[in-house]
Amino acid sequence: LDNGLALTPTMGWLHWERFMCNINCDKDPDNCISEKLYMQMADVMVKEGWKDAGYEYVCIDDCWPSHDRDAKGRLQADPRRFPGGIKKLADYVHSKGLKLGIYGDVGKNTCAGYPGSLGYYEVDAQTFADWGVDLLKFDGCYMNWTLLGEGYVNMSKALNKTGKSILYSCEWPLYEWPYQKVSDEHKEYLFRYNSLPSQTGLPLIKTSSFPVAGPGGWNDPDMFDSFEIWERPLSEKRLAAAVLNKQEIGGPRGFVIRAIPGWKMCDPKCNVTQILPEYKEMGVQTPKSNIVLSVNPSGTALLTITPLSSDFTEMYK
Ligand code: DGJ
Repeated sequence: LDNGLALTPTMGWLHWERFMCNINCDKDPDNCISEKLYMQMADVMVKEGWKDAGYEYVCIDDCWPSHDRDAKGRLQADPRRFPGGIKKLADYVHSKGLKLGIYGDVGKNTCAGYPGSLGYYEVDAQTFADWGVDLLKFDGCYMNWTLLGEGYVNMSKALNKTGKSILYSCEWPLYEWPYQKVSDEHKEYLFRYNSLPSQTGLPLIKTSSFPVAGPGGWNDPDMFDSFEIWERPLSEKRLAAAVLNKQEIGGPRGFVIRAIPGWKMCDPKCNVTQILPEYKEMGVQTPKSNIVLSVNPSGTALLTITPLSSDFTEMYK
């Protein structure tokens, strides 16, 4: 769409992979979905230089609303977790020179069971516009897949009708993909966002799930899984190995270091040093070493491995 939005890939922070649907603010006030979380993130994005690097959206994902709409049928934020309401939160985020993203669902409910927008597209679009929201991530749960296209297009029209520029990030291809490819006539409505840094400051670089990306619309494959290993020979027959945890969800994951392909150089022994994210001597290891690395979601651990035997074959020469 020629509306001046998303001319470059949209960059910002989105809560889902790190904080998911944690609504327990009594027991876990620092990690629950609340206005405090997004205000902190806005502060961090400015203070730690993310804003200067081009990250501008602070995005709310699922689990923000109350289970009940108000008397006029409008969505409302959970009053305990968002006592100031979304408008006040948007004002705060804007005061930092950033933009606020919100989350909704094309179907009857959000994936986590909160009210969806089915039957309320115009009301919800207008509510988001009234609050000063700058981006809408629109999920695809609780909707018959044959109606997805129509629903996403109707919400796109409802957003346009508000007259406010709201970037539309839709999950439509993800939910329709198992059944059929998105039709050409609907492609122009697709907007995706990418490159979201987590709270720990780790950039999450998203790749492609839909074969069209360019000014006006970008891909977001949503979530990764599995580890990736990168290796590089160093001087004196040493090896550098980077262990990348591609999974974004949850906490640190364990990786058994003897699964590194170059680990064969540890026969009969090697010396292992962790360089990043913090320096740590891991000592002398053998082929059967049981050492487990702990790698943050979307984080990388960088190691150097030094062979300790003279019969080390020069496999990386
Ligand atoms: C499914 C989406 O793919 C995720 O990104 C996240 O928004 C969850 N739904 C929220 O329930």
